[in-house]
Amino acid sequence: MKLVIVVASSTGRTRRMAEAAAEGAREAGAEAHLVEADVAGDADVLEADAVMLASAVHMGGMASAMRAFSERLSPLWLQGRLVGKVGAVMACGSAGSRGGAELALISMLSTLAEHGMLLVPMHNRLEGYSRAGCHWGPLVHANPPGGPAGPTEEDLVAAHSHGRWVAECTARWLAGRRGGGGRPAGG
Ligand SMILES: Cc1cc2nc3c(=O)[nH]c(=O)nc-3n(C[C@H](O)[C@H](O)[C@H](O)COP(=O)(O)O)c2cc1C
Repeated sequence: MKLVIVVASSTGRTRRMAEAAAEGAREAGAEAHLVEADVAGDADVLEADAVMLASAVHMGGMASAMRAFSERLSPLWLQGRLVGKVGAVMACGSAGSRGGAELALISMLSTLAEHGMLLVPMHNRLEGYSRAGCHWGPLVHANPPGGPAGPTEEDLVAAHSHGRWVAECTARWLAGRRGGGGRPAGG
């Protein structure tokens, strides 16, 4: 099972979340690696069973590098090449859950939904959810007032547990397909 995390991170905070998620995914048996949104292309997602998008929050939404990456995938959308892959997201913003962070998460999920991917949200039983989680995906507050800059080691627990969960869900989905569940029609 292969999982790729596409990362748009200027100063490294979101990248640290992505690294934690990759580590969690590996614990669940995935081959997981990161690729920068600036250079990510068709091959990176075509060879993956699961795709996670990790973006810094910029100007109230996802970073432009992530938006550009998602638009570069539009030929694959025309061909339905990503239908049935698993998708998930995470974000890091200086205003926490304000400042457009939720919108960044939702709009990244929307691009994955456009491709017919199976979206895995973050459920509230996952470790770290109450500190750096959101039902859309892990969400780190980079500059909490009076607190240490994020992501702290505690913040990274949410990304780690979500990465593990996404890999577990992907493994179940792939096992179901091998057992005759199959891809949906057209997938
Ligand atoms: C151009 C730019 C725009 C930003 N806009 C927002 C914003 O709208 N909301 C927010 O919460 N943080 C915003 N930030 C702060 C970043 O989201 C924050 O510094 C984050 O930790 C950066 O993650 P990175 O280290 O992965 O690049 C912005 C940062 C930059 C450079």
